[in-house]
Amino acid sequence: MKRTLLTIFFAAIVSALPIGAVNIVPQPSSVTEYDGTVKVPSRIRVYGSGEELNALAATWAQTLEKGYKPGEYDTPAGLKRIVSSATLPKVKVLKRSRRAFALLAVEPSMAEEEYTLSITPKNGVVITGGSVKGVWWGLQTLTQLLLQGRTMQEMTIQDKPHFAYRGAMLDCCRHFYSVEEVKGWIDMIAFHKLNTFHWHLTEDQGWRIEIKKYPLLTEIGSVRKKTIEGYYKTSTTWDENPYGGYYTQEEVKDIVAYAAARQITVIPEIEMPGHAVAALASYPWLGCTGGPYEVRQIWGISKETFCLGKESTYEFLQDVLDEVCELFPSEYIHIGGDEAPRDSWMACPICQAKMKEEGLANEAELQSYQLKRIEAYLNAKGRKVIGWDEILEGGVTESATIMSWRGPKGGIAAAKQGNDVVMTPNSYFYLDYYQTKGRAENGEPLAIGGYVPLSKCYAFDPYDQLTEEEQAHIKGVQANTWCEYIKTMDHVQHMELPRFAALSEVCWSEERDSYENFVARVEKSLVPLYEYKGYVYANYAFNGIE
Ligand code: ACM
Ligand code: ZN
Repeated sequence: MKRTLLTIFFAAIVSALPIGAVNIVPQPSSVTEYDGTVKVPSRIRVYGSGEELNALAATWAQTLEKGYKPGEYDTPAGLKRIVSSATLPKVKVLKRSRRAFALLAVEPSMAEEEYTLSITPKNGVVITGGSVKGVWWGLQTLTQLLLQGRTMQEMTIQDKPHFAYRGAMLDCCRHFYSVEEVKGWIDMIAFHKLNTFHWHLTEDQGWRIEIKKYPLLTEIGSVRKKTIEGYYKTSTTWDENPYGGYYTQEEVKDIVAYAAARQITVIPEIEMPGHAVAALASYPWLGCTGGPYEVRQIWGISKETFCLGKESTYEFLQDVLDEVCELFPSEYIHIGGDEAPRDSWMACPICQAKMKEEGLANEAELQSYQLKRIEAYLNAKGRKVIGWDEILEGGVTESATIMSWRGPKGGIAAAKQGNDVVMTPNSYFYLDYYQTKGRAENGEPLAIGGYVPLSKCYAFDPYDQLTEEEQAHIKGVQANTWCEYIKTMDHVQHMELPRFAALSEVCWSEERDSYENFVARVEKSLVPLYEYKGYVYANYAFNGIE
């Protein structure tokens, strides 16, 4: 990774600290400890200079409320709830700074997400951020320190993220999570200093976002009649209950605002031209054959895609994106692009006529034509597109950002040709993959396959094979949780924790620690938080099981 002399110096100070002194994940840029100590009262008074910072303090206090209410979620077999003994002080937000234990301030000369956190016997805790965002990440560090005991060491932490894009994707299509569950999950990503929620909202197996112009997308497209049980390639049994759910536009706005208050941007994903069967079931004219189609009941890839020959398909996609852009203020809109078989376009006279008319040599170029039209449409609305690495195949514009999922190679190729990249390689950050080699013997619940232990996540080098100039195209790293086999939020937690800790450090920290030190820090900093919140985190790595 690229380093500056200063960060090498800071890293030397930090790594020289014995484990047990200061435990924070992700590893901050620098920690300097002094001799004094500060007693933490059982109720801490926080003052933010200005309304925005006081609102931030109140939001922080909300995230510190104990998370788990017994009976809230189904706990999948084999996953035990952890009932914690860890406690946190109550937080009171003050209107004046007098007698504050923690002071929050913005110093605009600092970088936007940068913060300093100082703890002194004289002034208590002072967090200064380059913006509200920086202060927010400083508060996440404070949460970890508060959970480690009621006496804090005098210290100064200086910290800022390495990557501007630090993401997590949640698939709410294969299985659906309620608004409250999604909000709880947003808190969870904030605790890891992640700043982007990539929300997978449309799929073969369910369309999950209300679109007012096309009500059948949710009336028909949000419900599948039945669902395959067990491993889909070998299973012959079905859950015969209809399964569905969707987010109304009001709920979407509520979630976007909830995330924004936690300094998290929500990027919606509207899949095209594949993973579209729920849309085709709702409006069969969107497909090449005209159907009939049914919302897909098994996992895997469908050959049915949007017809890219008909103008009506483009009108539909643009109408949907109009409503999506109204709901999501994000710079990026994710337009999918992955796993779109070309069979239906090959057999479709309208697609073939479109290819002739536009001088397109093959179906890959037809997909690229669709991408470029949609990109131009979104660019005209002031948005940028991001898509899965398949979009490289038929050619992309310079301005499209590539999400590299089939390993890092698509991202490496994209960065070398000058496109921006978010690295989400399945080989390191697909959190629907198994976490141990032993799988069943270790009590892992059924998963889609793969093998990504915590150590693998932690070993990811986002800059592998890239020159310094090419490295500048790597905007960040993201983990993806696909939910074919993940029916409950407990199970989501089990797949993501503690692998989110590795993601967090890969995204944030300038320097990588030894894996052993990292695990020890996670145990002391994040695990108490997981227990306090009642998250069902995976224990394998803490027991040396890979
Ligand atoms: C993907 O996993 N199909 C992006
Ligand atoms: Zn067609």
